Amino acid sequence: MGWIRIAQRSTTPPGTITVHEVGGRRIALCNVNGRFYAIDDVCTHDGGPLDQGVLEGNLVECPRHGAKFDVESGRAVVLPAVRPVRTYPVEVEGDDVKVSVE
Ligand code: FES
Repeated sequence: MGWIRIAQRSTTPPGTITVHEVGGRRIALCNVNGRFYAIDDVCTHDGGPLDQGVLEGNLVECPRHGAKFDVESGRAVVLPAVRPVRTYPVEVEGDDVKVSVE
């Protein structure tokens, strides 16, 4: 499947999360101070939509029960989630933000 362009850097400001359908998955793209990270948009606790959570620094808080994940490593750092979310490689080329879901 290779690299898929999913967003434009110029329209995805720092501190925002956008959600994208890629290869049948829902991917949350997080802009942390100009660096982009892509994670599964599904909380590992009970399926909450992480794109609707709050992004503070590199932590996203699930809107359902407050678990927090490090968007860079995927690690669950605050209960009730204990399992990490999957992360995906991101590449920025010019204004294009691309993700690889293989
Ligand atoms: S579904 Fe995310 S913390 Fe419960």
